[in-house]
Amino acid sequence: MIVLGLESSCDESAAAILRRRSDGSIEVLADLVLGQIDAHAPYGGVVPEIAARAHAEAMDGLAAAALKEAGLALDEIDAVAATSGPGLIGGVMAALMTAKGLALGSGKPLIAVNHLEGHALSPRLSETLDFPYLLLLVSGGHTQLLVAEAAGRYRRLGSTLDDAAGEAFDKTAKVLGLGFPGGPALERCAQNGDAARFDLPTPLKGKPGCDFSFAGLKTAARQIWEGLDQPGEQDRADLAAAVQAAIAASLAARTRRAMDLFAADYPDCATPRPLVVAGGVAANTAVRTALEAAAAKAGFRLIAPPMKWCTDNAAMIALAGLEKLARGETDALDAPARARWPLDAASAKLDPAIGSGRKGPKA
Ligand code: KG4
Ligand code: ZN
Repeated sequence: MIVLGLESSCDESAAAILRRRSDGSIEVLADLVLGQIDAHAPYGGVVPEIAARAHAEAMDGLAAAALKEAGLALDEIDAVAATSGPGLIGGVMAALMTAKGLALGSGKPLIAVNHLEGHALSPRLSETLDFPYLLLLVSGGHTQLLVAEAAGRYRRLGSTLDDAAGEAFDKTAKVLGLGFPGGPALERCAQNGDAARFDLPTPLKGKPGCDFSFAGLKTAARQIWEGLDQPGEQDRADLAAAVQAAIAASLAARTRRAMDLFAADYPDCATPRPLVVAGGVAANTAVRTALEAAAAKAGFRLIAPPMKWCTDNAAMIALAGLEKLARGETDALDAPARARWPLDAASAKLDPAIGSGRKGPKA
């Protein structure tokens, strides 16, 4: 089975083609990503309207380039998959409408993919990983702990109550005048800093459950910065280091709770049990180190997909599409673009799938 996957839910336009062999193994035939950092940099963050226009301009060309790279014609593809949510709605529509056009023109089925399912399956692009596994998804748009029980079956253990972890990095970087995207800039700045100099709150310390919160931390950092008299380079580095350490510690502590739940729920899962981290924040060394230490203590092994599949890409969308196709699940051409779309069935029942707001795509 061969699937073309398209992605445009945030600020990466992407197209990929994957083949799934009869033994379930995966071959990546094309994998293209077009970022938009330069377009958003002057504004210090992703501007949804600029993102949507850039996706609309890029999608058909990317799909054609992916087919060319794979050496395939459209009629040799078995289905066209696209992210249909959650994400910035104008962006989501670009890949989804391109996929609908290609499906309609070629007579192949459309597969509407949940972007979060793409991230959840991404470790299976690069290694053989059996279900179940625990997944920490940490990006600019999402912070979630999920159990991947099987392809198509996910259970959410926790999510952020306010900002995503990447957002906390980005917004703090902006306050410190570090540019966009903020996460990598803040990490570089923190290298020369003393994390112990500033006292920052530990979000949800001692609170039960596996949810996250980063808004308080972000505000505390801003207040410290604004309270400094003529702050200089060392102040900037010290505060960057303190914020990075606090985010890393919080991610590790909440994930530790999820590891304990997972261990209790799946006593037969062989040790070390798998903990997967995916999303752009997984690039952060302090975060990885904290997670590795917490995983080792709890009898888990930390698995991080290669960076190109940790951040937004279409290979993971094509993979989720292949899995849906293998289960015989395809979608009608009126499949909606969704700003919100919880991955697990229980949350999907509680939350309406369409809409936005505090418990939106970030959750
Ligand atoms: O997964 P991703 O590329 O896009 C989505 O948000 O979906 O993640 C981007 C996020 C941004 O918030 C960025 O600042 C953060 O990941 N990030 C980092 C690092 N590299 C990327 N945060 C901290 N340290 C890094 N080295
Ligand atoms: Zn993503």
